[in-house]
Amino acid sequence: MTSQTGAQIIDGKAYAEGLRGRIAGHVARLKTEHGITPGLAVVIVGHDPASQIYVTNKAKQTVEVGMHSEKYELPADVPEAEVLALIEKLNADPAIHGILVQLPVPRHIDPNKIIATIAPAKDVDCFTPESVGRLQIGLPGPVSCTPLGCLMLLRDFVGDLAGKHAVIVGRSNLVGKPMAQLLLRENCTVTVAHSRTADLPGIVRQADIVVAAVGRPLMIKGDWIKPGAAVIDVGINRVPAPDKGEGKTRTVGDVDYASALPVAGWITPVPGGVGPMTIACLLANTVTTASLINGLVPPKDLTP
Ligand code: GUN
Repeated sequence: MTSQTGAQIIDGKAYAEGLRGRIAGHVARLKTEHGITPGLAVVIVGHDPASQIYVTNKAKQTVEVGMHSEKYELPADVPEAEVLALIEKLNADPAIHGILVQLPVPRHIDPNKIIATIAPAKDVDCFTPESVGRLQIGLPGPVSCTPLGCLMLLRDFVGDLAGKHAVIVGRSNLVGKPMAQLLLRENCTVTVAHSRTADLPGIVRQADIVVAAVGRPLMIKGDWIKPGAAVIDVGINRVPAPDKGEGKTRTVGDVDYASALPVAGWITPVPGGVGPMTIACLLANTVTTASLINGLVPPKDLTP
């Protein structure tokens, strides 16, 4: 579609459903051909309602694709040493190929200690220094879930990304930095911008691909977008929605969708764009780590 008729909407929910179908096929093959059932353990500390929903969804989707799922819910005041001991137990458990500790953890627990204790071979979040290094130099292993999801959508909808100028807005360890690595691997020219970048609108206007991961609701406006650009919105921001009733909220992205839609070539909506891809890519990473732990080549369609 051209910019005159408006952007093609990238349906991440539908893509994630198809991806989960492919993952289920890989899981079935690992079981029948190799006797391996990929297993994912999720650990949650405390009772943050948003985290509870994420973790429940992760466990549910793990089972739906045929994997083994373990969920550990620890009280908010659990001693740090107990969490570390649980991770060590899971590191040594042959039925578990992926370990995810839901962040944030309560203040008395050091998230860096948690991450450093997870065996890199089972690090399906791609949080450990070893996994981050492997991603940087292009060795096989898990890939940060949200950036992997963004890359799959870009490849499927936009096609060959070589030579394109990608502007990533946001420099987090979770999204911005690994996204830059993945797009460099695709032979993009990559700019990592952030909230302190001078003339951010001017930088974004140069982009063939915009990845918005800055965590500021509706920050990126339609007149910042080059006509025909691909716009990937990673933002998940809750904002007041008085039109829906007193105290109600709605979820919006980092991109001002209404003004970007007529200008962009492709755009992900929020919700229903990048969000559903993150859990699907967590499952993809568990197939990858289960394969690597057992000396098998991971399925090519689940890795960058
Ligand atoms: N909290 C919010 N997003 C994530 C994620 O991707 N992984 C983990 N472990 N915790 C999170």
